[in-house]
Amino acid sequence: MSIQKKAKRVHQSYIRSGSQKLIAAFYTRLMDADEEIRKKFETVDMTEQASLLSHAIVMSFLFVDKNQQVAKKCIDNVRKTHAQHNLNIAPELYDTWLECLLETVALCDPHANDELLNDWRHVMSVAINHIREGY
Ligand code: HEM
Repeated sequence: MSIQKKAKRVHQSYIRSGSQKLIAAFYTRLMDADEEIRKKFETVDMTEQASLLSHAIVMSFLFVDKNQQVAKKCIDNVRKTHAQHNLNIAPELYDTWLECLLETVALCDPHANDELLNDWRHVMSVAINHIREGY
């Protein structure tokens, strides 16, 4: 299956998971998973953050298509803000981020199965690797 087709399935899964409900459950899991990550968000307004992340996640689905300029602009921007001289998000933290997201999807999407979670991994890795490589 093409990655564009996978991105469509993942987007449907995101909607089925209740989008904002998924993001809220994801952040709870992420904060519990790693002390360094929790500290990064200590002074952040998490309501505002949830809505920014929700947008960036949808942009990540579109980012699999290199011609999507709006998605490219969004993910390029996250790459800049998360780099060493800025928010300084260490590259290895993205592995925890992705695992937490997949675990949350598994709980929130009633249709989740191994194949769908692999699609999520494949699709999100494109944006995450781009952000991580900008460190
Ligand atoms: C463990 C990995 C990550 C950590 C620790 C992290 C941490 C942060 C922090 C501390 C902020 C700043 C909030 C503020 O000051 O208001 C932020 C903003 C943001 N993050 Fe992340 N982030 C991570 C991964 C990601 C990923 C993978 C994405 C996208 C798929 C993402 C998307 C965003 C967006 C859209 C914003 C708001 C705009 C901006 O500052 O770029 N983050 N993140």
